[in-house]
Amino acid sequence: MDRIRIRGGRELRGSVAISGSKNAALPILAAALVVDGPILLRNVPRLKDIDNMCRILASLGVRSDWQADGSLELEAVDKTQYCAPYDLVRTMRASFVVLGPMWARRGVARVSYPGGCVLGHRPVDLHLKGLRGIGARIDVEDGYVTVSGSVRGGTIYLAGNYGSTVLGTANVVMAAVLGKGTTYIESAALEPEVADLCHFLNACGAHIQGIGSHLLTIEGVETLTGCEWSVIPDRIEAATYLSCAGMLNAPVVVENVEPRHMIAVLDRLQAAGLDLDVGTDSIRNVPTASGKLVATDVTTLPYPGFPTDIQAQFMAMMVRASGVSVITEKVYPERFMHANELARLGARIRREGPSAIIEGTDSLSGAPVMASDLRASAGLILAGLVADGHTDVRRVYHIDRGYERIEQKLQAIGADIERIRDT
Ligand code: EPU
Repeated sequence: MDRIRIRGGRELRGSVAISGSKNAALPILAAALVVDGPILLRNVPRLKDIDNMCRILASLGVRSDWQADGSLELEAVDKTQYCAPYDLVRTMRASFVVLGPMWARRGVARVSYPGGCVLGHRPVDLHLKGLRGIGARIDVEDGYVTVSGSVRGGTIYLAGNYGSTVLGTANVVMAAVLGKGTTYIESAALEPEVADLCHFLNACGAHIQGIGSHLLTIEGVETLTGCEWSVIPDRIEAATYLSCAGMLNAPVVVENVEPRHMIAVLDRLQAAGLDLDVGTDSIRNVPTASGKLVATDVTTLPYPGFPTDIQAQFMAMMVRASGVSVITEKVYPERFMHANELARLGARIRREGPSAIIEGTDSLSGAPVMASDLRASAGLILAGLVADGHTDVRRVYHIDRGYERIEQKLQAIGADIERIRDT
């Protein structure tokens, strides 16, 4: 299996072009199931998760073709398929988001029930509650969820113990757009990725109001027609490179970003001592005289709070800060697999329930570490960039799921990082 080898301590400088958002693109790709005619998507990142979604959609009669200019064209050509099989769905939990749109357009949808996940307990009860609330009949049998009946609309409340649900909201929205009546989603997810999906659907002819707020009002329409769309920038990728710049006190600028989507992250990065020059579509880290990072507490929350998808990278940063920081996970209270791996590099981290307590240290030394999930692998790479000696990050297939050309982007700003292919 491939490894990523990092030799720490190099000085970084330069600019990083941020890709389109994986988590915005995935549900928009699934929306091809409710749209008639071709869709042309720009700014879609070339990632394993996107390939996986294209494969699942292909099994459901949606063709997808990358164009020479990097855009992705999709079209539902065979609308008779309605079953997403286990072998494809198990490669990626996000594929559960085909359920709502397939049901709405084809009258029935059968999707493998998602299995376990390293982030902890990840149920789909809210997805099913939402769909049931707008008319779905739901049967769970043989490891599959089958949704049938017609979409009639209704009022649903979509929050659970950990707040709103991103893909649950997307699933219900994509069904409700073709409903016979009006759907009101109370406590809808506010994430920019959900807003991007809604704006895209409206561009195809949907009637969604309240986008970006807790109450989405969706008036069903008869049909949707394909359009051209440019996916929003990846705020998580941008925040990852900014954390990296902060750790090394490096003059690095991230370009093609949407700073308005990053308010909570920028707040915490600045609290940690980063001097950020925020432009309209770029953010520059200006090296500070002391180069010191300040211990900073962070609590992850649904948007507009601090994203759980930056928790591991922020933890890697706090490992080098002076003082003690407390990082609390309110979205996935078990999402701390990276803490033990960071400890292998010399980090001092203690777990207390949903919190990690980090005592900053100047001395990290390279070691072999194991990536447990996508964002954990990014956190380990960041720590490797400041550790003495070399760090080998194993199970890099996780990083390929969500960071486009990460080695090349880091090499271009001066990092000593390479992929070692095991033969
Ligand atoms: N939840 C329920 N019931 C449900 C659905 C969710 O209790 O039916 C809980 C979850 O267990 C969690 C919380 O609600 O505690 C939030 O989960 P959510 O449904 O919002 O997560 P998701 O939609 O499955 C997306 C991202 C994740 C990101 C989360 C939270 C995509 C493809 N995935 O997942 O991204 O961590 O929102 O922001 O959009 C990643 O990119 O690395 C990643 C894991």
